[in-house]
Amino acid sequence: MKNWLNLDNKVIIVTGGASGIGKAIVDELIAQQAHVILADLQNNTDFSQHHQVTFIKTNVSNKHDIDQLITTVLDKFGHIDAIVNNAGINLPRLLVDSKTPQSQYELSEADFDRLVNINQKGAFLLTQAAARNMVANQHGVIINISSESGLEGSEGQSAYAATKAAINSFTRSWAKELGKFNVRVVGVAPGILETTGLRTPAYEDALAYTRNKTVDQLRADYGKSAIPIGRDGKLSEVADLVAFLISDRASYITGVTYNISGGKSRG
Ligand SMILES: NC(=O)c1ccc[n+]([C@@H]2O[C@H](COP(=O)([O-])OP(=O)(O)OC[C@H]3O[C@@H](n4cnc5c(N)ncnc54)[C@H](O)[C@@H]3O)[C@@H](O)[C@H]2O)c1
Repeated sequence: MKNWLNLDNKVIIVTGGASGIGKAIVDELIAQQAHVILADLQNNTDFSQHHQVTFIKTNVSNKHDIDQLITTVLDKFGHIDAIVNNAGINLPRLLVDSKTPQSQYELSEADFDRLVNINQKGAFLLTQAAARNMVANQHGVIINISSESGLEGSEGQSAYAATKAAINSFTRSWAKELGKFNVRVVGVAPGILETTGLRTPAYEDALAYTRNKTVDQLRADYGKSAIPIGRDGKLSEVADLVAFLISDRASYITGVTYNISGGKSRG
């Protein structure tokens, strides 16, 4: 069927849309003729001249930035159809480093605060600000990008996984609060994907350290044997799911988090 998703001219905010999963989501939404507001600390040159993409420099953990973002979007478009809470960071850290107590890889209060501020508080701030408009309009969709680790836990990533479990709980609770206003809230929890900006050398060094492995052994663990489908997920596969969930084709889906991990079920 032609134009099955019908996202033409929808006004959709994507946080962290300059890189990785967020960029794949922006690519898919503009292919579907939506207007995308890219809210990130930085832009992506692929989008700087694109007439369907409006970049607004935003730190999602800063309430002032979020208020400015919403004001600018409403001035320009008058309403918000959907938001995608995608911006996030990961800092692999052990609760206790038995080899070197209080090493750089032990979870510090500053690391904890940073993870919670961006991954959890950021989603709260944007959703509250956008949902005011959605509730008034009796229309809207909120997509929360979680992680398989939020469903399963993850060695060396307890604080990160906890922020994602919090996101899953936001999804369920907000769906219960907002359903009566025709606003849906859906989570998407990817497993192991092709490389994004998140998998930096510093990230791999830290995760390997927390699992007492070399980076090569860590990469081997990420290999095909752990994933029933036999390969990493593509960013476009996550973007396809997000586009479907935003569309009215998913009009009876709310309050649930979809695992998209090729059948892998341990973080
Ligand atoms: N890559 C994976 O395998 C994977 C798996 C599961 C879940 N996730 C989740 O997907 C989301 C995107 O991850 P990614 O792998 O694409 O990462 P990425 O590092 O490639 O992209 C993250 C984007 O978020 C932006 N960002 C970071 N802090 C921000 C802030 N304070 N305000 C605004 N923007 C900010 C960055 O500038 C970047 O453009 C994250 O929530 C992550 O937890 C990723």
